[in-house]
Amino acid sequence: MSDPFTCAAEVRLKPGRDASVRGRHPWVYRGALAGPLPAGPAPVRVAAANGRPLGVALPGGPGSLALRMVAFGDERWDAAALRHRLLAAARLRERLALDADAFRLVHAEGDGLPGLVIDRYGAVAVCQLFAPAWEPLLPAVLDVLACDLGAGDVLLRGGDGAGSAPAVVRGRPAAEVVIREGAVRYAVDLLGGQKTGFFLDQRENRRLVASLSRGASLLNLFSYSGGFAVAALAAGAARAVNVDASPQALALARRAYALNGLPADDAGFVAGDAFRVARALAAASERFGVVVVDPPAFVKRKADLAAGLRGYKDINLHAMRLVEPGGLVLACSCSALVGEDQFGEMLAAAALDAGRTVRVLARRGAGPDHPVSAFCREAEHLKAWLVAVN
Ligand SMILES: C[S@@+](CC[C@H](N)C(=O)[O-])C[C@H]1O[C@@H](n2cnc3c(N)ncnc32)[C@H](O)[C@@H]1O
Repeated sequence: MSDPFTCAAEVRLKPGRDASVRGRHPWVYRGALAGPLPAGPAPVRVAAANGRPLGVALPGGPGSLALRMVAFGDERWDAAALRHRLLAAARLRERLALDADAFRLVHAEGDGLPGLVIDRYGAVAVCQLFAPAWEPLLPAVLDVLACDLGAGDVLLRGGDGAGSAPAVVRGRPAAEVVIREGAVRYAVDLLGGQKTGFFLDQRENRRLVASLSRGASLLNLFSYSGGFAVAALAAGAARAVNVDASPQALALARRAYALNGLPADDAGFVAGDAFRVARALAAASERFGVVVVDPPAFVKRKADLAAGLRGYKDINLHAMRLVEPGGLVLACSCSALVGEDQFGEMLAAAALDAGRTVRVLARRGAGPDHPVSAFCREAEHLKAWLVAVN
C-alpha cells in the first residue's frame, strides 16, 4: 500500500493568490489555483506562481474549497507530524481541566488538522472527516487514538454530522454512553444522535445558564437532548420546558432527567416546531425567567444569509416576548457565516419589534476545547450571547 503522506503532485497558485497561505490561512479556493487539481485523495505540494514552495495540502473534495493546508513552508507532513499534532491536541485538553469526560479532542483548523474532527465520549472516540482525503490517513489516526490516547472504541461519522449513519471502525462501542459534565450526567446516542452525539461546544454555556437559573423557570428552545435544562434543574431551577422537533432528542432528554434523579413531567417535553410552540406559549401568557434559543444553523451557504437572519430574528423576537421583565435570553447561532455584527443587529431588530429593551451581558462562543486558529477566524462557528430583557 502506498504511503498516504506522499505528495502526488505540485499545485501552483495564480499570481498574487499566495498571501493568505503565507499568512498561515489553511483554506485555498478553486479560483486561486493556476491549474487543475490532480484526482484522488493524495496530498499535494503547494507552490506560489513563481514556484516558491508554500507547504503541503490535502485536496478538499467537491465544492469550492480546493485545498486544506496541513503543512506551511518547510514543515513536515508525515505520520510523525500527524501523531505530534494529535498528542498536542490531547495535551491541550488536559491542560484545560474541563471537569468533563466528554470533549472535543481535535477541532480541525484549530488543532492544525483541517478537515478532521474527533470527539471523545469517555473511552470512545468519534471521528468526522470533512474531506475524502482524510480517509487514507484514518489508519494512522486510529493508531494514535488506540496506542497513545486510550481510545479502544472508534466510530466514524460523515462530515455533515446529522443523518449520516456512523460506522464502527474499531472495537465495539455501546450504542449509548453516559457522560459527565461536572456532577451532571447525560445520555449520548452515539449511533443515532445528532452531530457526533452531543453538543459539546455548549458545555460552558450550559454551566453559565445553570448558574443563573436557581429558582427560575427555563424555556429551552431547540433543546436536543435537554442539556441546558438538565444543567439548570440540577442547579436548582424551578421548572424547565424543552422544545424540539425531534421526538428521539426528547427521549434522550428524558433519559438525562432520569440519570440525574430529576422529576420529568410531560409538560416539560414538547415535540414540535419551536416557532409555533413559542407563539402558542406567548398566546397562553406563559412567561419564563430564562429562555435558551439554540436553533440549527439557518445559514449554511452565503445565499441563505438574508433568509437565515430573518429566521434568527423571528425566533429571538418570540423568545424576548416570552421572558419576564428582567429575565435572560441566551441567543445562539451556530452559523459560521453569520458575523458578530450581523448577530448583534439581528438581536437589536428583534428587541425593537418585541417592544423590549435588551442589554448584552456576555458574548460567548464554543468552549476552549474548540480552539480557533487566529489565522482562520472564519472557522469560528458558535455565537452565544447572554442578554437581559426588560
Ligand atoms: C443546535 S441543536 C440544539 C442543541 C442543544 N441546545 C444542546 O445544547 O444540546 C438544534 C436542535 O434543533 C432541533 N430543531 C431543528 N429544527 C427545529 C424546529 N423547527 N423546531 C424545533 N426544533 C428544531 C434539532 O432537532 C436539534 O435538536
